[in-house]
Amino acid sequence: MNNAALLKRYRLKPHLPRHVAIIMDGNGRWAKKRRLPRIAGHRAGAHSIREIVRLSGELGIEALTLYAFSTENWKRPKTEVGLLMQLLKQYLRSEVEELLRNNVQLRTIGNTEDLPAEIQRELEKAIHATAHCAGLRLVLALSYSGRADLARAAREIAKEAKAGKLDPADITEKTIAQALSTADFPEVDLLIRTSGEFRVSNFLLWELAYSEFHITKTLWPDFRTPHFIRALRDFQGRQRRFGGVESIVGSVMSWAR
Ligand code: IPE
Ligand code: IPE
Ligand code: MG
Repeated sequence: MNNAALLKRYRLKPHLPRHVAIIMDGNGRWAKKRRLPRIAGHRAGAHSIREIVRLSGELGIEALTLYAFSTENWKRPKTEVGLLMQLLKQYLRSEVEELLRNNVQLRTIGNTEDLPAEIQRELEKAIHATAHCAGLRLVLALSYSGRADLARAAREIAKEAKAGKLDPADITEKTIAQALSTADFPEVDLLIRTSGEFRVSNFLLWELAYSEFHITKTLWPDFRTPHFIRALRDFQGRQRRFGGVESIVGSVMSWAR
């Protein structure tokens, strides 16, 4: 349910994106500008996460997927990866209460089995503790790669076919969408990327087929309520055609699943 008073306060129309995905980029540059170590940027970025998660829940957005760590990010210096993992652990430990207060259900996508065992345990705890929450679904993309997810889905589908449970002739877009790690969530209506980079960096390759893109120069640690509202207003001003001719407002695409 949308929060009518909040919509009014932020001068938003009622049709919000059902699912927003964010490439949270620019933490390192934020720190560099301040002559701080990169990890200070990641730490500051956690405050943006807290604010955007709470606001998304209050507004009535159904799902928020945050690109927190890509499979390619394992290539970063060991010290940065280690510190990022520590920060993730701290976030999970300190945020469960806040997630529960805001009725937020935590989920993940990505190769979480690649994460350190203690992070996996913290994740499981937080996912379990918030499983009953019926508000916003917060999806953390961790050790995520869009191509790897598609490859995994292909392997799963091939196994079904080999076992004689599925006729290859019956494989449709829906079969693939349902085998992806995002199968439980609505279509991604809006993709936001901070720090001004015009690329998708292996994020949600299948799911972004008809998403609206909002790219801002704002660095992730500076991205707070006014920036998110601006992105939502930008989305609300778009004409979504989905290849057709009529203007379709908001999230009405239903062909993929
Ligand atoms: C995004 O910020 C956070 C992660 C990828 C984990 P970056 O660390 O990529 O920041 P920049 O792009 O170097 O500024
Ligand atoms: C994308 O940011 C990944 C995350 C935000 C987690 P990167 O900083 O890793 O992407 P590139 O290197 O600019 O493509
Ligand atoms: Mg970056």
